Amino acid sequence: MTYETIDTDVLVIGAGGAGARAAIEAANHNVMVTLLSKELLGKAHTCMAEGGVNATFANVDPPDNWEVHFKDTIEGGAWINNQKLVEILTREACDRIMDLEEYGAIFDRTPEGKIMQRPFGKQTYRRTCYAADRTGHEMMVTLTEEIRRRDVDVMEEVFVTNLLAKDNQVQGAVGISFKTGSLLVFKAKATILASGGGGRVYKITSNAAQDTGDGYAVAYHAGCRLLDMEMVQFHPTGMVFPESHRGCLVTEGVRGEGGLLKNIKGERFMQRYDAKRMELAGRDVVARANATEILEGRGTEHGGVYLDVTHLPPHIIEERLPTMLEQFLDVGVDIRKEPMEVAPTAHHLMGGVEINENAETTLKGMYAAGEIAGGVHGGNRLGGNALADTQVFGKRAGENAAMFAKKSSMPIIDRSQVEKEANKISTILERKEGIRPHEIKNRLQTLMWDKVGIFRTGQELQEAVQAIEEMKAKDLPRLFVMDKHTRYNKELIETFEIENMLTIAEMIAKAALMREESRGAHFRKDFPKTDNKNWFANIYIQKKMGQMTLTKLPVVVTTLKPEGA
Ligand code: FUM
Repeated sequence: MTYETIDTDVLVIGAGGAGARAAIEAANHNVMVTLLSKELLGKAHTCMAEGGVNATFANVDPPDNWEVHFKDTIEGGAWINNQKLVEILTREACDRIMDLEEYGAIFDRTPEGKIMQRPFGKQTYRRTCYAADRTGHEMMVTLTEEIRRRDVDVMEEVFVTNLLAKDNQVQGAVGISFKTGSLLVFKAKATILASGGGGRVYKITSNAAQDTGDGYAVAYHAGCRLLDMEMVQFHPTGMVFPESHRGCLVTEGVRGEGGLLKNIKGERFMQRYDAKRMELAGRDVVARANATEILEGRGTEHGGVYLDVTHLPPHIIEERLPTMLEQFLDVGVDIRKEPMEVAPTAHHLMGGVEINENAETTLKGMYAAGEIAGGVHGGNRLGGNALADTQVFGKRAGENAAMFAKKSSMPIIDRSQVEKEANKISTILERKEGIRPHEIKNRLQTLMWDKVGIFRTGQELQEAVQAIEEMKAKDLPRLFVMDKHTRYNKELIETFEIENMLTIAEMIAKAALMREESRGAHFRKDFPKTDNKNWFANIYIQKKMGQMTLTKLPVVVTTLKPEGA
């Protein structure tokens, strides 16, 4: 198989909120920037972020500040966040919103002209800035336009199969172009991983189809250290019917605007789970509450609970929740007149690639930002903090990668790593029979939902680990595709995706099995209490001598510590 080689200073893998912001920043530092997008530019999952982006402003009533946001984020994160990263997030979010405004983003405004903010779960003040319920879309359109104004080489529909690394340093990546079917080799002085999340490892998810967790897997195989992979956020409100829409996000903005959760008996059941915060309790609490109501038989016809906004004036729904209105009208439900049916959906991986304050990973020359990076959100992310994270750490990654590239020379890559990828593709294309990728994908997604879901037990987690290991050993070597073309071969890409999904599934299940307590989004029925004495800790994962190795280390504290730790 022939391949084309592309040299660049800064390679950005992923063109969502974090990758786009990183590319803009790197370009601001006058280096050559190549931005790879798995989809067409502007179609990243960030587009589907709805409810808003957190930032503190002193000119609101009551005045908010970064210290309160910091404390909310650590408490919301069940105390295991990297506090240095949280300080950066909460101090810098406001300036990054200002950047977006400067680029042309239009956030909703109060009558006095200030940026409108809505309340989101478990936060002291209204601090979630928004553009109706399509905030991520507004941000992506803006960032995409800003990229076009700069000298950024955008390569769309490129799937990265692996990173190139030598002596603990990243040298670029290997990818497949959907369009041409050819193998591409990117030689880079610095590489930024901003490839988004991996919610697609679950059967029911709010994540876009492309969110198969590729970045976590390639980072792991290149030698990066990851952390907190057991921490998977289940958003409390995803659609439940029709089946084609199952899992699709119903924004927290609905509850922020006053939406009420009710069971089939009409009870506002949040009274039993968090009587103080009710519908605006932490996402982990609301998700478990919704799941409990459903599991205990107080759910709706389609297996959800009700989310009701019929008491709100119709114009509020039309102005502030137009996407929700349309999304439900499409399936025959007018939310101005009848309640929505909702249930939890896999939404966000809090864990990911370890970064420091400069967005550097444990590998030299490699940076990470956005959902792929771990540590910012601890055990449970506050709604609205993900979009802020993309901008704050996207900028930091872009800036630091550019500086690194300026003082580095172009790497000499090891061709055998490229040949290994080329051989893998040829082997799969030449195989005459075996197992097709979607078959393993479906099995894995069901396994993760059933055994590594909202409620977990040691026994189920052990079964999941065993099943994943079996799939890796027995099914991966038999992967087979019907489509033998090289151009736009979706099935070929799926063979790489499923291998990546198995890697992150293994990380999630093994870390969840190791953490013998309940904390944040991780709930063990066999260890239902939070154990600060033994488990005020992060679980790190790294590939050592070819083996997945898990290590528990105490949380590094700068400011706040939970009781009993
Ligand atoms: O519910 C939402 O709109 C999601 C926001 C988030 O995950 O930050």
